[in-house]
Amino acid sequence: MNMRMATERACTDRGFLDLKRLIVQQRSLDCDHYKDGYLQRRFAVRMRARGADGYDAYVRLLKSDPLEYDELMRDLTINVTQFFRDRAVFKVLEEEVLPLLIYDKAVRGEASIRIWSAGCSSGEEPYSMAILLRELLGEEFPKFNVTIVGSDIDGEVLQSAQEGRYLPRQVVNVPKAYLDRYFELDGDLYQICPEIMSMVKFRSIDLFTSTAGSHFDMILCRNVVIYFNREMQERLYMGFFRSLKEGGYFVMGNTETLVGEASKVLSPAYVRERIYQKRSCGPDARP
Ligand SMILES: C[S@@+](CC[C@H](N)C(=O)[O-])C[C@H]1O[C@@H](n2cnc3c(N)ncnc32)[C@H](O)[C@@H]1O
Repeated sequence: MNMRMATERACTDRGFLDLKRLIVQQRSLDCDHYKDGYLQRRFAVRMRARGADGYDAYVRLLKSDPLEYDELMRDLTINVTQFFRDRAVFKVLEEEVLPLLIYDKAVRGEASIRIWSAGCSSGEEPYSMAILLRELLGEEFPKFNVTIVGSDIDGEVLQSAQEGRYLPRQVVNVPKAYLDRYFELDGDLYQICPEIMSMVKFRSIDLFTSTAGSHFDMILCRNVVIYFNREMQERLYMGFFRSLKEGGYFVMGNTETLVGEASKVLSPAYVRERIYQKRSCGPDARP
């Protein structure tokens, strides 16, 4: 069967539905939450790579070669990421959002700072946040209890996040001063220093089914939900809203749009950088 025809007809195609069902059964990943078009493109890549002539052939191949699931899962969860990805966003976080957050904590006499990087891939995003907080807190750092949760569904990228070792090309965005202060060159690899590593806890979390908890001062979920269908996006954004403290920030990807109920309850704080805030409704709420 022509591959293009196969992908175009896939939404109602029994083979496509069988393939989605098989992935739920074998890997507990509920494909129904992804956009069909996204799934079709990712499946087509694997089918082409393995020379499978249509969905039925690919289902047969998966049953006879279970290692193919690993390749498929790797393709479904696109892991592209960078330290300080989208410079303008990190500039606002460093110069405005985090200093204000730290100031508010000091005024309230609160010592705990909780941040969640949801869909963190190999760890560059949560480590970038840890570096910024370490810099901004300076000598006050020991007085604060900083917890940054980095979560992902992909065990392989979480494993490398936990190791905190990066190739030179992966650290090109890290300013030289931070590279000198927070990384150690170990052979060809840059190893994150123990102090920064200790600020980040990595967890395996499927955003379709679970959460990292609540009372977060900031949640970053960037370049993850673009692949999810509208219903899932709406549910997830409301889940993030509930997981934030009053006054907490939600940071989304540059190409993503807040949809559903969450767009009414989260206020834009920095529109261009896609940073939203759960405004406090108490008497000390900022305008
Ligand atoms: C493109 S990376 C984004 C990394 C980082 N947030 C950034 O913007 O640089 C998308 C990540 O989302 C993860 N992901 C995809 N589906 C997921 C799900 N259902 N639950 C949790 N993570 C998921 C992928 O494994 C991948 O590591």
